[in-house]
Amino acid sequence: MIKLAPSILSADFARLGEQIEEVAKAGADYIHVDVMDGHFVPNISIGAPVVASIRRVTKLPLDVHLMIEHPEQYVHDFVQAGANIITVHVEAYPRLLKVLQMIKKAGAKAGVSLKPATPISAVEEFLPHVDLVLVMSVNPGFGGQSFMPETLPKIADMRKILDEKGRKAELEVDGGINAENAREVARAGATVLVAGNSIFRAEEGITAAIRRLREATS
Ligand code: DX5
Ligand code: ZN
Repeated sequence: MIKLAPSILSADFARLGEQIEEVAKAGADYIHVDVMDGHFVPNISIGAPVVASIRRVTKLPLDVHLMIEHPEQYVHDFVQAGANIITVHVEAYPRLLKVLQMIKKAGAKAGVSLKPATPISAVEEFLPHVDLVLVMSVNPGFGGQSFMPETLPKIADMRKILDEKGRKAELEVDGGINAENAREVARAGATVLVAGNSIFRAEEGITAAIRRLREATS
């Protein structure tokens, strides 16, 4: 079964604990936490203190997506705060292998992410060192953008490469996922779907939105 990772970027931060409890009850697999620094992406979101607060209200794995420059300076803070998976962008830091090793040594799973314009070849050499590959299906920086269908062949290619090389890494897709496109993304080979707006801003409510995503992918 595909894993669902609600992105709290679209949550109501004044009711974050409550909303995390609701996604957990509705069957979410991870809590996806988008960290933005206003440099790597043109937006600022949240940092390690928020991760620490979330850690106290849920047992679900915290899937931290770092959209920041110099991730190596913050890895320990996020692991200390309770992050289970830490994903860094291949475009953000030249010494990627070092930071991936740092994440693992600190006790978390390590992921690598790539923007829509970044070719798969940029991450291939790191595949033996990661537990998760995050393919962005929007340009990182903001929630609520439209899914870019041109990323579907890239997801399928990544699936093929992981399978051919016998890699067990999760293949996560992030950006604009909703009940209309989730099946296609799952068919292309994703194992984890991130969804922000389509869960937290759903008119039908959080629980019904998760149920719809599940139905769409099963
Ligand atoms: C984009 C973030 C995504 C985003 C997902 O920079 O990495 O996780 O918040 O939100 P939706 O599903 O609304 O695109
Ligand atoms: Zn994300």
